[in-house]
Amino acid sequence: MIWSKRLITSIKTNCSRKNVPSLSSFSTLPSLHVSKDVPTHIIFGANTDVGKTIVSTSLVRSHVQCNPDQGKGKVHYIKPLQCGGSDEGFVTKHVSNLNGAGDGTGAGWEGHTLFNWDTPASPHLASRLENKPMSDEQVLSSLYSKLSEVNSNSNSNSIAMQEHCGRLLIETAGGVLSPSSASPDNNLPKHANASMNNSSNKSSSASWGWSTQADLYKPLQLPAVLVGDGRLGGISATLSALESLIIRGYDVHGIVFIDDNDGEHGSNLPALREYASRILALRSGSGRSLLKEEGSIVSLPPIPDISIPLDEWFASNEVVEQTARLDDFLCQSWRDHVDVLQGLRENGKESLWWPFTQHQGHNDNKITATVIDGATGDNFSILHDNDKDGMERTSHFDACASWWTQGMGHGETSLGLAAAAAAGKFGHVIFPDVVHAPATELADRLLHSKSGPGRDWASRVFFTDDGSTAVEVAIKMGLKKFVYDREKNGKGPLEEGIKLTVCAQQDCYHGDTLGVMDVAEPSVFNEGQHPWYEPKGLFLSYPTIRYKDGKIGLTPTKCTGQDNGMFNDIDEIMNVDERLKSDLYSHYCDQIQSEWDDYEEGDESFLIGSVIIEPILLGAGGMRFIDPLWQRALMDIARSKDVPVIFDEVASGLYRVGVSSCREILKADPDIAAYAKLLTGGLVPMSVTLATEDVFNTYLGDTKGQALLHGHSYTAHPVGCVSSIHALDAYAELFEGGDSNEDNTKAFFDQGVVSQLSKLPFVAESMSLGTVVAVTLEADSGGSGYTAAGRSLPVVQHLMKNGVYARPLGNVVYIMVSPLTSREECSRLCGVLKDAILSLQQ
Ligand SMILES: Cc1ncc(COP(=O)(O)O)c(C=O)c1O
Repeated sequence: MIWSKRLITSIKTNCSRKNVPSLSSFSTLPSLHVSKDVPTHIIFGANTDVGKTIVSTSLVRSHVQCNPDQGKGKVHYIKPLQCGGSDEGFVTKHVSNLNGAGDGTGAGWEGHTLFNWDTPASPHLASRLENKPMSDEQVLSSLYSKLSEVNSNSNSNSIAMQEHCGRLLIETAGGVLSPSSASPDNNLPKHANASMNNSSNKSSSASWGWSTQADLYKPLQLPAVLVGDGRLGGISATLSALESLIIRGYDVHGIVFIDDNDGEHGSNLPALREYASRILALRSGSGRSLLKEEGSIVSLPPIPDISIPLDEWFASNEVVEQTARLDDFLCQSWRDHVDVLQGLRENGKESLWWPFTQHQGHNDNKITATVIDGATGDNFSILHDNDKDGMERTSHFDACASWWTQGMGHGETSLGLAAAAAAGKFGHVIFPDVVHAPATELADRLLHSKSGPGRDWASRVFFTDDGSTAVEVAIKMGLKKFVYDREKNGKGPLEEGIKLTVCAQQDCYHGDTLGVMDVAEPSVFNEGQHPWYEPKGLFLSYPTIRYKDGKIGLTPTKCTGQDNGMFNDIDEIMNVDERLKSDLYSHYCDQIQSEWDDYEEGDESFLIGSVIIEPILLGAGGMRFIDPLWQRALMDIARSKDVPVIFDEVASGLYRVGVSSCREILKADPDIAAYAKLLTGGLVPMSVTLATEDVFNTYLGDTKGQALLHGHSYTAHPVGCVSSIHALDAYAELFEGGDSNEDNTKAFFDQGVVSQLSKLPFVAESMSLGTVVAVTLEADSGGSGYTAAGRSLPVVQHLMKNGVYARPLGNVVYIMVSPLTSREECSRLCGVLKDAILSLQQ
C-alpha cells in the first residue's frame, strides 16, 4: 500500500460508512432572525396520533382570537413534512370562521406545508414508496428559507401590524423519534454538505437514509413544546419523549396533552407535574431548569364524540382558557429565553476569565466575544446583535475543530447517548485498585484494536484528565525509566549536581500546567507568566514539509542543508523506510548527535533523560508539519543512548493527520505516548498515557513509594471512557473498515488545491495532511511567527463573514475539520480560504 493511496491523493467522496452516525448540519443555511416579538416553538409529539395538530390549531386560534385587541401580529403555522391528508387544511378548517374571516387566510394566520406525500405513512416510508426522496438538507434549507421569509416581515416598517409575523409554530411529523423523509443523500457523510450528484443516488429506495424528527430539527436551536400522550400508558410515552428531547439539547418550554376520552384512568397531568417537581430539576442543554412552573404542563379536556362538531370543543371555555394560559406561558418563556441570549455577552464580560485572552480589549470594547448558542455537526450556531430588535442566528463552520477536539461532530446524538448511559450506570467511581468495564474496554481498544494507537507496542493505559496532565505523567514515566535503566545497567545513581532534562523540538507546546510549561523555550507564554518557569530541555530546530510556489519540499534550514529539500511528491517524503538509506538521514543523525553532545558536555551538567516530540504535526507552534525522517533520526539517536522516547500525540494522534498514531509514518515505536482531544470524540475531557511493559515494570517494587503516585479525581471516569470507546469505534469504521485500504482514504484536502494555495499572493507556504490545511502568510511590517497576526486577521475576518469560524496562529491561518467531515465540504472550505486570501489584495 502506498502512502498516496492511503492518505494523500486518493479523494473519495462517498465513505463506505455503514454504522458511523451522521448528523444533519449544513453550513450554508441562511441566517435566522431571533426576536422577542416573534415567539417561536417547534411542536413535537410523544407519539403519532396524540393530537399535535389539534393543539397547534388551538394555539393558532388562541393567537388569532386575541390578535385584533392586542395587535400581536400574524401567526405562521409551518408543517415541514406531510404524509397523507393535510394538517394545514385541518387548521384552516378550524380557524376559518374565527373573527368572521371566511376562508381563514389573512385573518391573522398563515399556513405553510413544505413537502407532502400522498401515502398516509411515516415520511421515510412514504418517500420510498412514492419514489420521492427528500433529504434532510433539502428539508432544512426549505424550512430555513420559509422562516427567514416570514420573519423578514416581522421588522418591516412598511407592513401593517396585523400582517407582521408575531408567532411561529412548526409542527413536526409523528413522534419525537419518528423518521424524517428518506433520501440517498441522507446516506452520505452529511456531517457537512454532501454532494447531491453522487453515485449512491442510484441505490434502491429501501436503503435510503433518514434521521429522527428530533435530530432533523436540532440545527434550528429552537425551544420545543411536547404534545404528550393523555391515554392510558401515556405517562411513560410522554416522559420517554421528553428525555429524548432533553438529551438532544432541546429547551422544552411546555408539555400539553389532551386527556383520554374514556377517562377511566384519570388525567396524566398530576403524575407529569409530580415527576417534574420530584426529580431534582430537569434541565435543558443551556442549563435552564425545565417544567418547574405549574403553567408549563397543561391538559386539555377529552375530545368529544364524533357526533359533536370539533369546533364546539375548540370554542369551549376550558379549551380556550387552558390554551390561552399555555400560549401566554410559552410566549413568556420565549421572551425570557431571548433575554438571556441577549444578555450573554455582557454577563460573560462580568464573570468569565477567558483563556489566552487580554480582557482589556473587552473592557475597552475593542473586541467582542462570540456568542455560541449551540452547535450541531461541524457548525457553531452563532448569535449576532442586529441593529433593530433582536439578533441574527448564523451557522458557522467550526474550522478550529473546537480547539482540535472535534471527532464526532458537535452534539452528536449517539455520542451523547453513550455518555448519558455511562453517567446513568456509574456517575463517577473512584479508581485506585478499582476495575470497571468502561476502563478495561477502552484500554483494550487503545492497546489491541486496529484503530488503537498502542497496538503492537504499548501494554498499559494510565488515565488523566487533559493533554497537559497526560504529558506530565509521560515525562514522569520517561525520566523514571531513564534513571532506573541507568542503575540497572550498572551506571549508578545520578551524580550530584546533574540536572536531568529532556530533548524536545523548538516551538514545541505540551500544555499549560507548571511541569510541561518547562518543556518549552522561553516565550511570552511561559516566561513572565509565572516566576517558577525554568526551561528544562535541549530544543532542537527541525525541518518542515511545505508547498512553496506550488512545489512540495522541505524548508531549507541548517538541518536540511540547501540541496536536500527537493522531492517529487509527498509520497517520497513520507516513505521513511526508503529514506533511511539517504544521505539526509545520516546528515540529520550527525547533526542531532553533535547538538546533543554539546548540550550535555556544556557547563551546566545537563543530562537528557527523555526525548519528547509532537509527531508530524507541531500544532500550537504554528501548525507545521515536520519531516518524519528527522523525527525518526532523533528517535534512533535516543535509542542508541538508552533514552526513552515520548510521543505527545495530544494534537496529532487519533487520525488528526490521518493515522491512529504517527508511529505508522515514522515506522518506529515510542516507549510512552499521550492522547487527549479527539479521544472522547470531543465530548468530555479525558486523556491517557500509554506505556510499554518495560516502563510499567520500573514502578514495580515492594513499597508504595516505588509506585507511580499520581492520580486525578476524575481518573478513568466512566463517561469519558464510554465516550472514547464510542469515538474510537467510529474512527475505526471510518479509517480502518472496508475490504481494502484503498476504500479507506485519509485525505481530506486535495493536495493539488493545497499546492495552488501556496502560489497565492501574500502566501509564504501551504501544507495539508489528514484533517488539517494550513497557510503561512508572508510577514508584513508587524513581523512573523506565532505572535504576529498582521495579515491573518483580515483573512480570518473574511472567513467569518463567509460562514467559517477560524482562529489564526500568528501569521498562520488553518482549517481543521473533524474526521467525519465530508470531502465536498473540505473542498468548499479551501475555496473560501482562497477567496479570503485573495481579499488581501483589495
Ligand atoms: C501537542 C499538545 N500537547 C499537549 C497539549 C495540552 O493539552 P490540553 O489543552 O488538553 O491540556 C496540547 C494542547 O493543545 C497540544 O497541542
